[in-house]
Amino acid sequence: MIRYDFTGKTVIITGGMGDIGKATARKVLEAGANVVVAGRHEKPEVMEWLRQASENVMFVCCDISKWEDDENLVSETIRRFGAVDILVNNAGINGQQPERKPFHEYRHEFWNEVISIDVNGTFYLSQIVSRAMIEAGKGGSIVNISSVMGINPARLQCAFTVAKAGVNMLSRVMALELAPYNIRVNNLCPGSILTEKTYSKFYSDPVKTEKLLSHVPMKRPGKTEEIAVGVMFLASEESGYTTGANLVIDGGWQCGFTRDW
Ligand SMILES: NC(=O)c1ccc[n+]([C@@H]2O[C@H](COP(=O)([O-])OP(=O)(O)OC[C@H]3O[C@@H](n4cnc5c(N)ncnc54)[C@H](OP(=O)(O)O)[C@@H]3O)[C@@H](O)[C@H]2O)c1
Repeated sequence: MIRYDFTGKTVIITGGMGDIGKATARKVLEAGANVVVAGRHEKPEVMEWLRQASENVMFVCCDISKWEDDENLVSETIRRFGAVDILVNNAGINGQQPERKPFHEYRHEFWNEVISIDVNGTFYLSQIVSRAMIEAGKGGSIVNISSVMGINPARLQCAFTVAKAGVNMLSRVMALELAPYNIRVNNLCPGSILTEKTYSKFYSDPVKTEKLLSHVPMKRPGKTEEIAVGVMFLASEESGYTTGANLVIDGGWQCGFTRDW
């Protein structure tokens, strides 16, 4: 088993109260990092679970789509831990019913909300963090959590698919422009992951599960820990020559159709 060492590194993880964010936070805490988890609402039970791994964890209330919240997140991180070495842009929204609508009926308000969080939030926070990294002069690593839907579109979720395609390109733009400062930027596209939300939406229903997994060659959803280890690889010094890459962790979903022709 690969053991990553994040001792002395400070990591910001947005959406850290959500399932993928908290699994990632737990793993990097176990690997010795200082961790700041950010989100709009603190969940005491998640913080308690994270503190079982290490006391070097702090929650900062932050709506990533608000520039002033992002500035506060970065300054609180530097105040407590002295620097930001790694940023994981994990927070994001998609939208459940009744927001899932055909393209020609998609609500403008919801389109704007998704773009303002998934794209603008990632852009704002990355800009503030990269300025701090450049000023500190020690480089850094940024991992953007996107989605396979940013590669292959899905019906009824045009805002999410466009937002995640935007994140995919933003990662490459950032990699290109931040490399001279020794800041690496990589992208991770999860496929369908078993979380509290996806369980209540479809994995609790065998019929919906079968329908969904018919597109997934590995015939199972991913585990949050399988995303967390991908983040750890991209964030760690072990991937020191990797920048602008896109790591797809999706059980083969985006390889193509699984049916015979
Ligand atoms: N689960 C999957 O199958 C899957 C597949 C592909 C991609 N992804 C991506 O993976 C990431 C994490 O997904 P997840 O399944 O762990 O989702 P989740 O459980 O819903 O977690 C997302 C977290 O983001 C936070 N968040 C939402 N809007 C925010 C904002 N404006 N500012 C700060 N935090 C905000 C939410 O907390 P608050 O609402 O309290 O702020 C929530 O804790 C997302 O970017 C998602 O698009 C997930």
